[in-house]
Amino acid sequence: MRMYDIIRHKRDGLPLSEAEIRCFVTGYTAGDIPDYQASALAMAICFNGMDAAETATLTDAMMRSGDQVDLSCFGAYTVDKHSTGGVGDKTSLIVGPIVASLGGKVAKMSGRGLGHTGGTVDKLESIPGYRTELPPTDFIAQVEQIGIAIIGQSANLAPADKKLYALRDVTATVDSMPLIASSIMSKKLAAGAHNIVLDVKVGNGAFMKTREQGEELARQMVAIAKSCERQVSALVTNMHVPLGWAVGNTLEVLEAVEILQGKGCPRLRQLCEALAAEMLSLCHGWTPEHSLQKVKEAIDSGAAFARMQKWIVAQGGDGAYLTDTTRFPAAAVTQDVVAQTGGYIADMDAEQIGNIGVLLGAGRRQKGEAIDHAAGIRLWKKTGDCVCAGDCLATLHTNRADVVGAAQAAYRAAITIQDAPPQAQPLLYTIVR
Ligand code: URA
Repeated sequence: MRMYDIIRHKRDGLPLSEAEIRCFVTGYTAGDIPDYQASALAMAICFNGMDAAETATLTDAMMRSGDQVDLSCFGAYTVDKHSTGGVGDKTSLIVGPIVASLGGKVAKMSGRGLGHTGGTVDKLESIPGYRTELPPTDFIAQVEQIGIAIIGQSANLAPADKKLYALRDVTATVDSMPLIASSIMSKKLAAGAHNIVLDVKVGNGAFMKTREQGEELARQMVAIAKSCERQVSALVTNMHVPLGWAVGNTLEVLEAVEILQGKGCPRLRQLCEALAAEMLSLCHGWTPEHSLQKVKEAIDSGAAFARMQKWIVAQGGDGAYLTDTTRFPAAAVTQDVVAQTGGYIADMDAEQIGNIGVLLGAGRRQKGEAIDHAAGIRLWKKTGDCVCAGDCLATLHTNRADVVGAAQAAYRAAITIQDAPPQAQPLLYTIVR
C-alpha cells in the first residue's frame, strides 16, 4: 500500500478503508511516512472530511499507537471528564473530588495550558509539593484508596496523535471536525475510563466558535466513544464569558476551594454540579435528579472538600494551604482595572482575557516557559452586570511590573459596555448522550 494512493483517494473525495487508515497511522508513528505526505493527507481530510466509520478507525488506530491505561480493576466505576479548553476552566479540580466522594473512580490524566487556555496540571502545581507524575502502581493504589488521582499525560499516550497534532498546528489543518474529534478521543480512550463526560466549550474563548460547531463536535465524539463501547455524554457549554471569577493558576485553585466550601461564583458551581451529576449518572446509573441531589449534598456537607484535602495530601501536596489559603504566595503587583464609562457589560472577549492572563505570566508564550503561578486576573464584573464609571472591573495579579499598563489597556478593550442590558446567555446549551 502506497501513501501516495491514500492521499490521492482522500483528495478525490473517496472514503479511506480501514487498512489505509491503519497503514498511515502505523507508518507515520514509526517515522516511515514523512511529514510532507502526512500534511498532504491532513489537508485532504480538511477539505473532504471523513465519515463516521473513518473517524472511528482513525481514533482507534491513534489510541493503539502507544500505552493504554488498564483501569479494569475498578469495573464500570471509572469516570473521566474532558474539557475542550476554555478560560478560567477549573472544573476538574472541583468535580473530581465531588465524584470521588460519591463512589466514582477518577483516574485522570490532564494537560497543561495551551495558548490562551489554562491546564489542570499547571493549576495543581501551584500547590507546593503536589506531584503530577506518579508511578503507575501508586496511581492505581491512590484511586483505589481515595477515589481520585490526577496526573500529567504520560509521554507515550497516543503518540500518533502527538505527532500529527504538532504537524497540524503548523500546517493550518487543526480546523477539521473529524481530526479534532479523533485527536481528543484517542487520548481519552487510551486513558482507560469506562465512562467519559465531555465538556464541549462554545464561544469566543473556545475552539468551537458557534453552538452548531460545538454540537457537531459533541455528536462526533459521542459516536466514537460509543463505537468503543464506552459510556459517554457531552455537555455543550458557554465559553463566550470566562468561567467563574478567576483566571490564573493559584487564583483558580483558591476559587475551587471556595466552591467546595459552599461559596464562590454561582454559575461556576452550577456547571460543576451539572458535570459531576452527569459523571455519577454514568457510573452508578442514577437518575439525573438523584445525581444532582447527591452532588449538592456532597458540597454542602463538606464531604467533597474533605475528599479534595485527602487527594491533594496523598499526592504530596501541602494540605495546610487548602485550610489556610493565605499561605499561597501572592503576586508582587496587583492593579485594578476600572470602568471608564457606566452601563451594562454586553460582551467579554474571553480569548483576549485568556491572552492577558498569559501576558501577566499565568501561561506560556513559548513552549517550555516557566509559569508564574501567582499571576492572573480576578474578575469583579461579568457579562450582564451593571457598572458605573470608576467601578473596578478586574484586578490584575503579576510579578511583571512592566506589562501592567499594556494589560490594563487590553483588558478595557476586551470589555464592551453598552447602555441597555444584554440578553442573558445560557450556561448549558444541550447535552448529547
Ligand atoms: N485538542 C486536541 O487534543 N486535539 C485537537 O485536535 C484539538 C484540540
